[in-house]
Amino acid sequence: MKKSKTITLFVCQNCGNSSPRWLGKCPECESWNTYVEEQQEKTKTAYKAKKTSDPIPITEIQSGKEDRIPTHNKELDRVLGGGFVPGSVILVGGDPGIGKSTLALQMLNDISASSNIGDSLNLLYVTGEESPEQVKLRAERIGISSNRVFVLSATSVESIIEQIKNLSPQIAVIDSIQTMYTEDLASAPGSVGQIRECTSKLMQHAKANGPAIFLVGHVTKEGAIAGPKVLEHLVDTVLYFEGGKDHPYRILRAIKNRFGSTNEIGVFEMMDVGLKEVKNPSEIFLSERPENASGSVVTPSIEGTRPILVEIQALVSPCSFGVPRRTTIGLDNNRVSLLLAVLEKRAGLQILGQDVFMNVAGGVKIEEPAIDLAISIALVSSFLNKPLDPGVVVFGEIGLAGEVRGVSQIDMRINEAQKLGFNKCVVPKINLDRVASTNNSISLVGVDSIEKAIEVFF
Ligand SMILES: Nc1ncnc2c1ncn2[C@@H]1O[C@H](COP(=O)(O)OP(=O)(O)OP(=O)(O)O)[C@@H](O)[C@H]1O
Ligand SMILES: [Mg+2]
Repeated sequence: MKKSKTITLFVCQNCGNSSPRWLGKCPECESWNTYVEEQQEKTKTAYKAKKTSDPIPITEIQSGKEDRIPTHNKELDRVLGGGFVPGSVILVGGDPGIGKSTLALQMLNDISASSNIGDSLNLLYVTGEESPEQVKLRAERIGISSNRVFVLSATSVESIIEQIKNLSPQIAVIDSIQTMYTEDLASAPGSVGQIRECTSKLMQHAKANGPAIFLVGHVTKEGAIAGPKVLEHLVDTVLYFEGGKDHPYRILRAIKNRFGSTNEIGVFEMMDVGLKEVKNPSEIFLSERPENASGSVVTPSIEGTRPILVEIQALVSPCSFGVPRRTTIGLDNNRVSLLLAVLEKRAGLQILGQDVFMNVAGGVKIEEPAIDLAISIALVSSFLNKPLDPGVVVFGEIGLAGEVRGVSQIDMRINEAQKLGFNKCVVPKINLDRVASTNNSISLVGVDSIEKAIEVFF
């Protein structure tokens, strides 16, 4: 018989560190006021060690063949690296109401609609937040017709694993991991211990029996997936579903992927019939571009493996208080401050004392340094109140000496701009020799410093 005893522990809800008494500040992750009391059952047989096997030469290990299950949703497949790997665990996080449940349900529908597995195909959607009737409402909105998608309303991980064993689905969605609980722990669902334990139970089952598990996760106020950080280490793939509340566009981004490239993005549009794939994101992000407005610059940015043209907007206005404001949306604040200092020192513009607001249109976030030149030109354009020629795109990295440095994948960037009808491209001078196609209908201008770039435009 199992000997059990309930113990009280205080667990940091940020990192999972535990202590026998309450602490104001976590010694592990240094966050304040994150300790919550949890009851944990101490059983002698709580953890079973994995059977150890003898070491074998790597050449003699049989490689499992990578039989992916494609989702037939181009954007999702791109982010996953070609579909679901059987036995893998995928965690998708996102703000409340962003469309995580819609994405999960629609994915099951896409798989069932175009799969050739036929009658042996089973897909399970486990909901811990909504009733089957509420799920049905969403399914009607999306237009699900397949009888291979099963809905289960449950929150106990043990009973869910039992149902997974009975149904043997190829893919099981758990919506959401924060509502699940295991009977082994006495703490409330959503606590760090519960989330960690439930995930590891589901994962053990997935690895041993092969269904791919798609976990939906809530995010904290700061935007990280709620629960212990170890959760992200446990699972195979971590995806973030993001987008502005006021924009219909949603971006699915891979943060970690054991079976594919990270930094791939999938772009969707939220419509009344569900999420629609956006085939050409550049066209969408540029569709509402203002004409003859100063401070607006278009730049080809590489997201994962594909180029996307985005509009960078700057507004520079006289400072009304003592300390100038720096507000950026979709861009790194520190990077913008650095570029302002370079513009002041190297290009001689009196810009540091001004209020600066920057935005990437369409609610995208861009981090690559290749957009430095576009940010700087947008700032100068707004500062001088002079609009740019609408047919120009700009890219290049800027160093602290004001030099324009080369960037990667120039051909992809130039081709995307050409495809959308731009006729001039300002690029780092050093990249000019490396441009492959010579019969471009787009004219290329090479610049090696920020002063030269300003001369080209103004
Ligand atoms: N009829 C509709 N037309 C357009 N968009 C809709 C419609 N109904 C719902 N939506 C969109 O779907 C979103 C809700 O989707 P969903 O329930 O999948 O989000 P979620 O991320 O799972 O939310 P939660 O965090 O509450 O679980 C709404 O915020 C809204 O943007
Ligand atoms: Mg939901």
